[in-house]
Amino acid sequence: MNEFALEDYLEKHSTKPSDLLIEMTRITNLRTRFPRMLSGHIQGKFLEMVSKMLKPKRILEIGTFTGYSALSLADGLAEDGKLITIEYDEEYEDLIRYFIDKSGFADKIQLLIGDAKLIIPTISETFDLVFIDADKYGYSVYYEQVMCKLCHGGIILVDNVLWSGKVLKAGSRDAETIAIIEFNKMVAEDPRVEQVLLPLRDGLMMIRKL
Ligand SMILES: C[S@@+](CC[C@H](N)C(=O)[O-])C[C@H]1O[C@@H](n2cnc3c(N)ncnc32)[C@H](O)[C@@H]1O
Repeated sequence: MNEFALEDYLEKHSTKPSDLLIEMTRITNLRTRFPRMLSGHIQGKFLEMVSKMLKPKRILEIGTFTGYSALSLADGLAEDGKLITIEYDEEYEDLIRYFIDKSGFADKIQLLIGDAKLIIPTISETFDLVFIDADKYGYSVYYEQVMCKLCHGGIILVDNVLWSGKVLKAGSRDAETIAIIEFNKMVAEDPRVEQVLLPLRDGLMMIRKL
């Protein structure tokens, strides 16, 4: 099946994104160098649905970019819930804040600018839901850093775990691919969790702490 035809079909049969997410997609495409990093319609809706099912009180996101996944996840927060999102690149800060302010979730979203590896150890909250979507070299570090802050039964979602299919190709052994292969293996062998690797977009791992 043609990849674009499939995407088109999936989008036509999924609930449409909000006008704000459509605006975010357009502006991200116009103003950033790597707009493909955005979660987009289908994955964004999936994150929103997971969040709405869990109704988490605390969400941690690692890797905000312009905020598509942050706003999608925030949509499912409990009444008194809060989402902390961490972004390394300060160039995105104005755009992120613009969208957070327009979203209606401004009082529920805390944006932290800086290196997540340094910021996570300073956070004292416990989380029900974590979304890991930053630099691929850091995945194993983030996983260990958040595990002790995740409540039992809590969920970690991890993006790009198929890395454009490179995890399966013997010839693709660049540093990022190796980091993801090692991360996937580490999770598969971790007795603290159960997990499912979904072929959604670039591969989404759903991990549940036992
Ligand atoms: C794939 S994008 C995130 C996409 C976003 N979660 C979404 O779904 O729309 C990855 C982001 O992680 C950020 N990032 C990379 N290394 C980071 C680090 N050490 N700490 C925090 N953010 C980081 C990048 O600047 C980039 O904006």
